[in-house]
Amino acid sequence: MCLVDTHVHVNFETFQGDLELVAQRWREAGIVRLVHSCVEPSEFEHIQAIANSFPELFFAVGLHPLDVEEKWHPTISEEILCLAKSDQRVVAIGETGLDFFKASNQDQQMQAFESQLAIAQQLDLPVIVHCRDAAVPMANLLRQFCHRNGRVKGVMHCWGGTPEETQWFLELGFYISFSGTVTFKKATQIQESAQVVPGDRLLIETDCPFLAPVPMRGKRNEPAYVKYVAEQVAHLRNLSVETLAATTTRNACELFRLPLPECLANQNKLLV
Ligand code: NI
Repeated sequence: MCLVDTHVHVNFETFQGDLELVAQRWREAGIVRLVHSCVEPSEFEHIQAIANSFPELFFAVGLHPLDVEEKWHPTISEEILCLAKSDQRVVAIGETGLDFFKASNQDQQMQAFESQLAIAQQLDLPVIVHCRDAAVPMANLLRQFCHRNGRVKGVMHCWGGTPEETQWFLELGFYISFSGTVTFKKATQIQESAQVVPGDRLLIETDCPFLAPVPMRGKRNEPAYVKYVAEQVAHLRNLSVETLAATTTRNACELFRLPLPECLANQNKLLV
């Protein structure tokens, strides 16, 4: 099997004691590339250090919408831009986006998001988008931004939207990434969305350490568990897990311009 986990946070403290073992397990599970997300630019050095130890790991830089209230200031977008330019292993801007669950700083979040969209566009990098309780304002903001400035590429990460909402972001050119939530028994809406995304726009992720998939639900999540996400999405789409894995790996390599892994190099393009 040949998998990419397109969204991890293995810099979090919960991995401090056993990251080597965690990496051993992701390698055994067939994970050939990982994309490390970033919730605030101060994490950058630590993420770089992790990538030095694990060459299959590439990373993003950005400011999470839930950190905007505390951390957003006019110079931080300059900092994100500089860091993104400083290392060739930076493959995305993010995570950024809108989280309107309990938010009182909606305008500020939109401002922080727009300035990170501008950085992504300037550097021709994809954005990793976090969207919670904000599908309508998110779609409107992206439509207006693209209308004014041209297309921006990216992924709706840990996607939990309805099939209709999914369609809005597909029309904007975005990839859709499913996490462990697609395995949850009551997540019928997410499961329906996982069936409507075209094969060439589909990605999978863990968002570890959060949201471990069934059968690990409730435990600390880790990259190796992306195989459970792959199994569930394959099941929902009536595919073999190998086909789903190869397709989502190819998609991840295309969106993030990751070096093509050996497991794909000799394979013909598989269509989901
Ligand atoms: Ni995340």
